[in-house]
Amino acid sequence: MRHDPIDSKLFAANRDRLAHLLLPNSVAAVNANDIPPTNADGSLIPIPNSDLFYLTGIEQEESILVLAPNAHDEKQREILFLREPNEHLKIWEGHKHPKDEAQKISGIKTIKWLAEFPVIFRQLLCESEHVFLNTNEHKRAADTVETRDLRFIRETQAQYPLHQYHRLARLLHRLRVVKSEPEIELLKQSVAITEQGFRRLLKLVKPGINEVEAEAELAHEFTRRRARFAYNPIIASGANACTLHYNQNDQPCKKGDLLLLDVAASYANYNADLTRTIPVSGRFTRRQKQIYQAVLRVLRASIAGATVGKLHRDWQKESQMMMNDELLALGLLKKSDIKKQTEETPACRKYFMHGLGHPLGLDVHDVGFITEPFAPGWVLTVEPGIYIPKEGFAVRLEDDIIVTEHGPINLMANTPIEPDEIEALMNR
Ligand code: GLY
Ligand code: MN
Ligand code: MN
Repeated sequence: MRHDPIDSKLFAANRDRLAHLLLPNSVAAVNANDIPPTNADGSLIPIPNSDLFYLTGIEQEESILVLAPNAHDEKQREILFLREPNEHLKIWEGHKHPKDEAQKISGIKTIKWLAEFPVIFRQLLCESEHVFLNTNEHKRAADTVETRDLRFIRETQAQYPLHQYHRLARLLHRLRVVKSEPEIELLKQSVAITEQGFRRLLKLVKPGINEVEAEAELAHEFTRRRARFAYNPIIASGANACTLHYNQNDQPCKKGDLLLLDVAASYANYNADLTRTIPVSGRFTRRQKQIYQAVLRVLRASIAGATVGKLHRDWQKESQMMMNDELLALGLLKKSDIKKQTEETPACRKYFMHGLGHPLGLDVHDVGFITEPFAPGWVLTVEPGIYIPKEGFAVRLEDDIIVTEHGPINLMANTPIEPDEIEALMNR
């Protein structure tokens, strides 16, 4: 575990909230992720399963959480199954959680080794009627391989075909989209680490450095602060910034160009998501500043517009209308373009072609029902941009906010964004 210990009350409260959403006589199970294979005998570093982490704080591979709030045996109401540590594992892979450590991390009293799973799971299933199993229900997920959860569903349904099966994801999405106080504190740590990384780049960037050097600098800052990249960083100078998912990060930064930085840290699995756009030479040109100020106005107005009760669709529509006005004033759109726009294709789409923002948390594009109105505790990104391939540059600005009863709170209020402040910091 790279991060400081987290009070297990967070995970206990999450389990408790989930237990209240289950039907009477239910069993729910959540699996760790598979370790992603690469080539030959290679693999990527294991990525903790966000749902398992949310409910237990456990990041170890092969772990299974079983919840059975109405189990006859009180000790079986929450069980965490883990790989049993042994000498061989210790030599080849290192530390695996002993039972007392897993209890301390998760707050779960009953820890069992995986060898006991089939017998105990059978007992619980025979006692219950409903089974809640987990699937990845992110709308944009592009799974091409069968996940551990899907294999588990296939095997469980084959063995117990007459139970009533339900989607755990529906319940977890509802819970995870609303962030509790301890979660907000963890997000704030990721945001603070991200800010440190960005400030370091403001000192480093000058004509001639390569995008890859900026990435290296961030990797150093994030790693020494016990964080990781929240996603593949986008470090895009000049026209590269017009490629929305650019992540080659291998081109020289040229004098006069802008550098778009969509880079953020993940601490304790909670992700920040930041974008800033800075001038490679330390001074914006007049044109760059004009575009920058337009994006900044849309960002600020969109932050202010993220109020309780609003639908994401309406929020985004409002920002698109603001963007239309900005693009008209900049001479990038004509009145006739606005007249031709349709409900699905606002005129600004030509220069601002992606969504305004998304829920953020244990996943960067976090789970949650964004067809429902914003509620207190939602954490959202706000990320308008203007992309002008013809002029060879783009500006995107992205902050992370919390929706509250008293209006939105900007978690990134301390991360420099005013052009004057950015220029001053770059020329210090
Ligand atoms: N960095 C990914 C995003 O902004 O959505
Ligand atoms: Mn981003
Ligand atoms: Mn984002």
